[in-house]
Amino acid sequence: MNEFNKIVEFINKSPKAELHLHIEGSLEPELMFKLSKRNKIEIPFKSVEEVRAAYDFSNLESFLKIYYEGSNVLINEEDFFDLTWEYILRCKQDNIVHTEIFFDPQSHLPRGVSFNSVISGIDKALKKANQDFGITSKIIMCFLRHLDEDQCFDVLKQACNYKDKIIGVGLDSSEKGNPPIKFKKLFEQAIKEGFLTVAHAGEEGPPEYIWDSLDLLKVKRIDHGVQCLKDEKLVDKLIQEQIPLTVCPLSNIKLCVFDKLEDHNLKKMMNKGLRVMVNSDDPAYFGGYLNKNLIETSKALNLQIDDVKELLENSFKSSFLDEKSKNHWLTKMH
Ligand code: HPA
Ligand code: ZN
Repeated sequence: MNEFNKIVEFINKSPKAELHLHIEGSLEPELMFKLSKRNKIEIPFKSVEEVRAAYDFSNLESFLKIYYEGSNVLINEEDFFDLTWEYILRCKQDNIVHTEIFFDPQSHLPRGVSFNSVISGIDKALKKANQDFGITSKIIMCFLRHLDEDQCFDVLKQACNYKDKIIGVGLDSSEKGNPPIKFKKLFEQAIKEGFLTVAHAGEEGPPEYIWDSLDLLKVKRIDHGVQCLKDEKLVDKLIQEQIPLTVCPLSNIKLCVFDKLEDHNLKKMMNKGLRVMVNSDDPAYFGGYLNKNLIETSKALNLQIDDVKELLENSFKSSFLDEKSKNHWLTKMH
């Protein structure tokens, strides 16, 4: 077996955790069509092929427009169950044993969908994942940063009724022009309520947004964070404090953060000692689930088995699992 095939085999067989996955971003065109019929919601596409052809993005903004349009077919609890269950079947295929998923209530509530339908559908599928496959999970609620902070407080209040299901809050949507400071009070309130915090930062936006996510939003992880290498002092801090960066290589290529996978800075980040791991972000839109991200990135950056091992170990170390569960999976890796 050649070296690359050994890496592919290693990736396929190793248990792994995924920490950056938007559940609405796992809506495959086939399910989008099925739900559009079931719920009688029109979508601006005639076929699955037409949907896939529209997934040609130039930046984050151009993706978000289509991503929010796609989410419009999600109405009832069972839609959120089906969506989540399809992702869980992919987890099973990719040997993901633990997943921490984001959801965006603010793209559903204004359409008249209840918070309870969204969270219950997701939660029931995750409970079944645990019963049927032993897959564990956490749920993180994201605020849409292009919206005002004021209107987020009501969503936070609703989340407080589901503290048994939601472990933390995050920040996603259009990064540029929507700095972390806009949400300082909201995140203070969320922390007071007992939620952990994370934030997308340094995907397209500047290193200052990573600093401010850490200092003002007190985040435990930075989602993406690939722009950090532009700021040496920031890199020093991220290394010293081993702040996890949830990197999403295929997403970064689809959204033109890097021209091609060979140009991705993941290996440079690893060489510096940053705590990074690989994730799929919005796999239905970006062309691949976790194993495909790992395999294609390994090929493009000439990663070795030890590099992949480090990425997978980081996925568990950086998760919100308890120490006992983390150690369980870390010892299984050796
Ligand atoms: N960045 C910001 N917002 C998002 C993303 C992303 O990668 N995916 C879904 N919402
Ligand atoms: Zn994301």
